[in-house]
Amino acid sequence: MPNEKTPLFYDIIEQRRSTRKFQAGRDVSKTALKRIVDCGRWAPSGANVQCWDFIVVDDPQMIKRVTEVFLKQAQRLVDHAKGFPAVKKTYLANTVAIILVIGDPRWKVCFPHSNSAEWVKEYDDNNEAIFLCSLGAAIQNIQLGVTAEGLTSSWLSGGGEETTNKDLSELLGYPDWMTAFGTIPIGYPIASQDRRYRRPIDQIIHWNGYNSKQYRTNKQVDYYESTLRPFAMYRDSELMTDWKDMDQKLGEWSEAFTGKTTNPSGTLEEKTDFSKPRSIGSATKRRRKIND
Ligand SMILES: Cc1cc2nc3c(=O)[nH]c(=O)nc-3n(C[C@H](O)[C@H](O)[C@H](O)COP(=O)(O)O)c2cc1C
Repeated sequence: MPNEKTPLFYDIIEQRRSTRKFQAGRDVSKTALKRIVDCGRWAPSGANVQCWDFIVVDDPQMIKRVTEVFLKQAQRLVDHAKGFPAVKKTYLANTVAIILVIGDPRWKVCFPHSNSAEWVKEYDDNNEAIFLCSLGAAIQNIQLGVTAEGLTSSWLSGGGEETTNKDLSELLGYPDWMTAFGTIPIGYPIASQDRRYRRPIDQIIHWNGYNSKQYRTNKQVDYYESTLRPFAMYRDSELMTDWKDMDQKLGEWSEAFTGKTTNPSGTLEEKTDFSKPRSIGSATKRRRKIND
């Protein structure tokens, strides 16, 4: 029946959550971990290159050592990426396993390469996207497999930072020119983490072409970055309309973040430099105060 939801599949999609508090003293079988990795194995990849390897850390001593690497990584964020609402990574110590998804860049050679000088950059740039998207598909499949096993996880990108990746490669023995793009700590959640903010479906779906009234303005991106981000990342509700302090948090931005029409005028903006934060909002200011 093509128009009916397959319950288990949709439940797993919706229940997959980034959980950062795990019960201590639990364990998981190697058989379950193997089933989870098998979900990654079935992910799609450009040219079917399967540009990944999966390192499963389930030895408590090794979990401790990987945790130490991520404690340093998290401290670097606090010291050198002020304003980002990072959480402490001590919770990694309570994982039953940590799966690292390692990307092997050599396989990019199998993606389309241009033999005309003027097209080299275009294909090379897209090859990077193909490589990273393939790894993202594998990481996502693994997180879904974790959910299907009744466990929970998060998706850490910090292993992809050069310094952290070097520490991990020394610890785990993979070549340092490969990269741990995804680190997936797995465990039993302390409390059920049911939902997270998602944009309403009618705001993101464009039928038969891009609807410019659903374009999110530069100012809207700035407001999310400077003010809403920590709440959207960590609060346990899908809709901002469920936030008790919604009026205070959203103010004039209410329709833009909770409704269908984000840009009533339908006017699009020119490409703008978003390579670094452009404004400082209340949440960022508070966090800076704590960190300074
Ligand atoms: C590419 C990518 C990188 C992420 N990196 C991190 C990370 O380094 N640390 C972390 O705690 N969560 C990370 N996350 C998880 C997101 O914060 C999380 O998916 C998002 O806030 C939505 O919450 P949910 O996964 O519970 O739905 C990452 C997610 C993705 C897709």
